[in-house]
Amino acid sequence: MPIPESPAFSAVIFDRRDPAQSQEIDRLIASGITLRDAVVPTDDLRRLRPALTDDELDEPPRWAYFAWQHSIVRILGPGLYRRVRLDRNRIKITGDEQERLSSRRIGIAGLSSGYSIALALVLEGLCGHLRLADFDTLELSNLNRVPLGLFEVGVNKAVAAARRISELDPYLSLEVLTDGVTATNADEFIDGLDMLLEQCDSFDMKVVLRDSARRQRVPVVMQTNDRGLLDVERFDLEPDRPLFHGLVDVDALTDVAELTPEQKTPLLLKIIDARQMSDRGAASLIELGRTVGQWPQLGSETLFGAAMVAAVARRIGLGRPLPSGRLRTDPDDLLALLAEPTPDPVPPGPAAPAELRPDADPLTTILHAASRAPSGGNTQPWRFRAGAARLIIEPAPTPSRMDVAGRGSLVAAGAAAFNARVAAAARGTLGPWHIHADQSPVNVEIDLTEGGFDPDLAALYQPMVARTANRSPGRRRELAAPVVAALTAAAAAEGAVLRLISDLPRLRALGEVLGEADRIRFLSGGLRQDMLDELSRPGLDRPDIGIDVRTLGLGAATSLLDLVARPPVMQTLRSLSGGSMFRDMTAARVTSASAVGVVVIDGDRVEDYVRGGAAMERVWIAATTAGLGVVPLSPAFLYARTPADLATLAPDSTGELADLQGRMNEIVGIAESQAPVLIMRFVHDPQEAPRSLRRPLSEVVISSENTVGTN
Ligand SMILES: Cc1cc2nc3c(=O)[nH]c(=O)nc-3n(C[C@H](O)[C@H](O)[C@H](O)COP(=O)(O)O)c2cc1C
Repeated sequence: MPIPESPAFSAVIFDRRDPAQSQEIDRLIASGITLRDAVVPTDDLRRLRPALTDDELDEPPRWAYFAWQHSIVRILGPGLYRRVRLDRNRIKITGDEQERLSSRRIGIAGLSSGYSIALALVLEGLCGHLRLADFDTLELSNLNRVPLGLFEVGVNKAVAAARRISELDPYLSLEVLTDGVTATNADEFIDGLDMLLEQCDSFDMKVVLRDSARRQRVPVVMQTNDRGLLDVERFDLEPDRPLFHGLVDVDALTDVAELTPEQKTPLLLKIIDARQMSDRGAASLIELGRTVGQWPQLGSETLFGAAMVAAVARRIGLGRPLPSGRLRTDPDDLLALLAEPTPDPVPPGPAAPAELRPDADPLTTILHAASRAPSGGNTQPWRFRAGAARLIIEPAPTPSRMDVAGRGSLVAAGAAAFNARVAAAARGTLGPWHIHADQSPVNVEIDLTEGGFDPDLAALYQPMVARTANRSPGRRRELAAPVVAALTAAAAAEGAVLRLISDLPRLRALGEVLGEADRIRFLSGGLRQDMLDELSRPGLDRPDIGIDVRTLGLGAATSLLDLVARPPVMQTLRSLSGGSMFRDMTAARVTSASAVGVVVIDGDRVEDYVRGGAAMERVWIAATTAGLGVVPLSPAFLYARTPADLATLAPDSTGELADLQGRMNEIVGIAESQAPVLIMRFVHDPQEAPRSLRRPLSEVVISSENTVGTN
């Protein structure tokens, strides 16, 4: 297209590295024009995320000369300019998408409403080249809807629009046609465009432009003001599509240019579907030229329509599906949808206290104690067969991926068995206990013998009842030597080893590993769903299964869970290798701990995990006695033993998980023949933790006296 020399409609960019251009800059400055500096300080540039490379930061500034403003402005180079202006949108419109959109060429015919559209397109970076055509000059009466100003009145509309656009993005390539589009230049105007926005009043031009666009396979979009009509004709995909969706039979018209205004009006009304006009729009139409001089157009509707067209440009520009068709989006209609906001489903306040039965008959006390045991996601993966003479606890593996080979359930059952032993000891009915790993189902049998006292275990009854997962931040302080001794002895008493990590360098290393494992857990569809399934939202889910979201200690961030629960949100993060927030949250919990303890067992057989569960519970109770806050930190790979196990967790991240598992074993000191049972965060000065609930015993006790022992 020929670019007219004057009037000036776009900035001229100068680069000081070119001596001739440098001279021109100096000449302009010396001529007394206004000089402005819009270069962003390097310190501010350094705050951009992800960080700019030194090469990017070194991009030399340019000088943009705006003749119509009698001004020259020192601006960032094109790369930095774009980055600073648009980079914050980079998740909504990814860097790659921005790049693709920046090569799009869009034409706009008719710059009254077209200017708002151009503005929306350029604000978002939806094109790299704009071709604007309008023969008309801006008048005061246009300022009802054209967001230009008095300084542009009397200027050609396309020129005025281009100038403002250029002030927004001086690097944008612009072409201007001050004669407007005509039957003779329509083909040339549309040539090379990726999309045409037809915003003309003239019926003739509507036909001419569509006819040419269809021949050149360019999609046409139109937006009209009254009740926001958005119209899309995908001639790029449907080259045989009738113009105007076939609403007007254009082929039947012999010569469009010969039509009288009286003949054109009904055709225009057909195109905009007058039946759908607003009442006042329709009344205006009838009164046009009588009690009202010109066609009414509301500025707000124009801006709203421009937003719709920008959405279309994004879709078409990125090759996302969008058929031909039309849609009305009337802000006034939308107000009919005004409604009370949905209240947050999570009411404030702690969870209800758990049921405790220390005063009941011994068996009931023992069963309640067993069911108070901790379990991953509070799934309570156990069944109890109860009789006067013995209690049998069967692990009941959960569908959760992290419960690899039911090992998490074995650990929980081991903890339940330990609690049962403590309660039995306190009630004087503790006999020997056995793990029947060879039976089906696997089970733990505890004999309940009259007169069976064990003062050491009995002393643990109260702290066992008081034990909770405490997710409060607490304070990091060194564990006193007697506490370390008590925790270590607790693990040893049940045949396990407790590895304690309290020095910051190792906590940092462990935090990185556990954090990254949690990031993977959040970003992997299956693991994430399992985790969400374990949450109990007050008023929505059963309160006695799962982790009450209020006990997570997320506070206001609880609503983040609603976002985490939306797969497309998390898929977007995944595609961006994002989600570092999840990693950092866990890492911070690790480094802010007084210590992290890992209960380790020799071997990975069924009985090892059951014993490990008992050891973990005994350590937890000992820590509670010492006034520490305890919460497990479970990486996804905790119970995986083989590559095949890891593949069941997150098939796409098997390698990463294997690497993380190896790093953890090294940091903690877990030999290949050993297995971790639970990783626990210990803190001082914890806040009081809300108590979690348990299912009623009637749901977990599956047989009475008579059938006990029939397993
Ligand atoms: C094997 C196992 C793994 C666990 N993993 C986590 C965990 O990753 N994060 C967490 O906050 N709590 C974890 N917990 C704690 C449980 O959520 C908690 O024990 C359960 O909700 C019952 O609450 P209570 O311990 O306060 O009685 C785990 C518990 C067990 C037994």
